Amino acid sequence: MKEYKKVFSWRVYGFDELDAKDRALVEAAKDATGGSHSPYSGFKVGAAVLLDDGTVVTGSNQENAAYPSGLCAERTALFAAGHNHPDKKVIALAIAARNANGWTDRPVTPCGSCRQVMAETESLSGVPIRTLLYGKQGTMVIEGGTATLLPFCFGADSME
Ligand code: THU
Repeated sequence: MKEYKKVFSWRVYGFDELDAKDRALVEAAKDATGGSHSPYSGFKVGAAVLLDDGTVVTGSNQENAAYPSGLCAERTALFAAGHNHPDKKVIALAIAARNANGWTDRPVTPCGSCRQVMAETESLSGVPIRTLLYGKQGTMVIEGGTATLLPFCFGADSME
């Protein structure tokens, strides 16, 4: 028998403690909530993807009367980045969300399907995606990519 252990860490920053580049990416995610189509949940999520050449691609959640047809902000942004910039690497992803009462106190963490899409993006680029999750109480910064966010995930190599 062998036992394995996985340990991960994350940091929480006050918004003003973030460096200027991180603040700008979080601001881009906050701005992106303006494009949210969320009449059913009233929950507006914005995502901003940073590419290795400094390009920022944004997305927001797009809901649908047929609920499962909608898509989260993270995947909207990641798919737009993949389509428009297939040769560039995604190095960071910021997420922010607000409801009728304003920005969430706690950071919104990406859902399982979005993490799976992040894993596919990382498998193409070989680069873990730095994740910045905004909340009024602080911004969580997770450096480890999906090795942290989605351990043991299914990937192309699972089919070998
Ligand atoms: N949503 C996102 O866009 N990203 C997340 O990480 C969590 C959930 C959206 C989906 C749906 O439009 C609304 O938030 C409520 O679940």
